[in-house]
Amino acid sequence: MEPKKRLSNPNIGLNGELHVPGDKSISHRSIMFGSVAEGKTVIHNFLMGEDCLSTISCFRKLGVEIEVSKDEVTVYGKGWDHLKEPSDILDVGNSGTTTRLIMGILSGRPFHSVLIGDPSIARRPMKRVTEPLKQFGTVIDGRSGGNFTPISIRGGNLKGIHYSLPVASAQVKSALILAGLQAEGMTEIVEREQTRNHTEKMIVEFGGTIEKHGDTIKVKGGQVLKGTEIYVPGDISSAAFFMVAAAIVPDSRVLLKNVGLNETRTGIVEVMKKMGASIEVMEKSNEGEPVGDILVQTSNLTGIEIGGDLIPSLIDEIPIIALLASQAEGKTVIKDAEELKVKETNRIDAVVKELGKLGANIQGTDDGMIIEGKTPLHGGEVHSWGDHRIGMTLAVASLLTDSDVYLEDAEAVKISYPTFFEHINQLLMK
Ligand code: S3P
Repeated sequence: MEPKKRLSNPNIGLNGELHVPGDKSISHRSIMFGSVAEGKTVIHNFLMGEDCLSTISCFRKLGVEIEVSKDEVTVYGKGWDHLKEPSDILDVGNSGTTTRLIMGILSGRPFHSVLIGDPSIARRPMKRVTEPLKQFGTVIDGRSGGNFTPISIRGGNLKGIHYSLPVASAQVKSALILAGLQAEGMTEIVEREQTRNHTEKMIVEFGGTIEKHGDTIKVKGGQVLKGTEIYVPGDISSAAFFMVAAAIVPDSRVLLKNVGLNETRTGIVEVMKKMGASIEVMEKSNEGEPVGDILVQTSNLTGIEIGGDLIPSLIDEIPIIALLASQAEGKTVIKDAEELKVKETNRIDAVVKELGKLGANIQGTDDGMIIEGKTPLHGGEVHSWGDHRIGMTLAVASLLTDSDVYLEDAEAVKISYPTFFEHINQLLMK
């Protein structure tokens, strides 16, 4: 492991323009759909983060030819039937999206496969996917009655199901859609709270069909998908670190270019506006995935309450929103977010403990946290817990501290944002 990373507050604002790397959710899905489609898929602005590289490595083991050059990826798909039984276990690394979505694909394939990942993956609940996949007719099992990796799958002969999602999770929904595409007949999935809909949008890009009526998604089995060209927008979940940094660091003005603005992901924009942030969103195109620029400047912020339907649209941004709230006047309450406990780490505990070490006043609750602001931050020794978003939150916090922050396992940022520290420095030099 690398030594602790020393982060010194340069006491200057962040200024300039930035292109954040490609969206993680969309990058994963483009490899998966490209692999099961017929014909070539070219993916532009693909995120070369460790999680998405895990997805590429798994599909190569399933016999798919995938070429990688700079930030472009070409997938030579030959259709569902050409995925082959892997001779080795499939290692998903730290990636929950890879694990859950690939289960949906493998559940329809008539062969045996085994999934493992790192120690964080081994703690994350998988029954939410394995249980409904069993209802489709697949043979799937894992540690603790199918709840944890290693997971083994012997797929094939699926029959469409009707299923109501018990948790708001795009990963579970997507796994079931991917199984439904291979199942006999129609699959219906009821989603009471809207979660990110990149899978649904991408099916259409690949020439498939999917319908949504009210809160019910309908997908027909036996669909043949066709290779295509995908332009991955910048990841709003990565942009969020700079949106918050620009709002809380004095003398800042940052323009984030070509960020994905899918309405199922923009909860952070709504929250920043409600807190009184100086934020402007300029949508540029709305074909497939909407894209635009986001301008943020140093702001005077006020605490608010965040909960309900908004949570799925900002679930990954809660660690950085906690930092934002620590710099807002008054109380911020985050509720209905118990899912935070089963992310890469328990993000309620990680945020409370690590931001607390730097002087933030945050109290954990059963389903979120309560933050009292505004508090000055001081230096200290902190840990990312191996969680990319906790690492980046602490690095942004160090831009406000009165002395140095030493961040243990700063390398974790490479999961979703390999150039994160370079990008901070770039904005500090303008
Ligand atoms: C993701 C869905 C969310 C999110 C994760 C990516 C996806 O997870 O937190 O980072 O790409 O579908 P859940 O489905 O567990 O909410």
